[in-house]
Amino acid sequence: MESILKHAHSGMRWFALGLLIYAVVNAIMKKKNGTYTDNDKLVSILTLSLVHLQVVIGFVLYFIEGKYKLFSQMSDSVSRMYALEHPLTMLIAAVLVTIGHSKSKKAAEDGKKFKHTYVFFGLALFLILIRIPWPFLTPGAAWF
Ligand code: HEM
Ligand code: HEM
Repeated sequence: MESILKHAHSGMRWFALGLLIYAVVNAIMKKKNGTYTDNDKLVSILTLSLVHLQVVIGFVLYFIEGKYKLFSQMSDSVSRMYALEHPLTMLIAAVLVTIGHSKSKKAAEDGKKFKHTYVFFGLALFLILIRIPWPFLTPGAAWF
């Protein structure tokens, strides 16, 4: 079970990142005079759900793997990554994606909808990129 969740959490990063990048680039390209279509809405919902799902699985892993115990070794960068930096940064990113989706949904003009999408999703994308345990950043981490 733990191994399935671990691989799901690790592999799904690529879908979450792919969707986020697509959503941000698409919103930037259409912000001037593009029309907000059902497809744009679908992309926003899919991105939101995938990021939510990542957070849920992440929390389950955090507790079943006892990552909170690593709080006693904060001077070690790998322990600090898994105990604190990764979870906290990803949680903030997920909140930004939720706010972005919500604001975009409520905005009346299409230009505003795209703007909320690229601002909030863009910021979330940046945070996710800098605090995923990439193999070059966190010894022992995997690519998928
Ligand atoms: C957008 C949200 C998130 C993304 C994209 C993400 C992505 C990742 C990736 C790519 C790894 C590396 C796995 C590997 O080395 O194979 C990882 C590991 C991990 N993540 Fe997340 N994560 C997210 C949110 C969270 C949250 C909110 C938590 C905890 C509350 C969390 C807990 C963990 C744990 C405990 C591991 C280590 C699993 C292990 O290898 O034993 N993640 N995450
Ligand atoms: C403890 C776990 C979760 C929390 C606290 C949470 C929180 C939220 C919040 C606050 C919203 C409102 C956004 C808005 O009104 O625009 C939302 C929407 C949504 N979440 Fe989650 N979520 C969680 C887990 C999940 C999971 C596991 C999935 C799917 C795999 C998911 C998919 C969605 C979807 C599809 C929406 C609605 C998008 C829309 O139609 O506007 N969430 N969530």
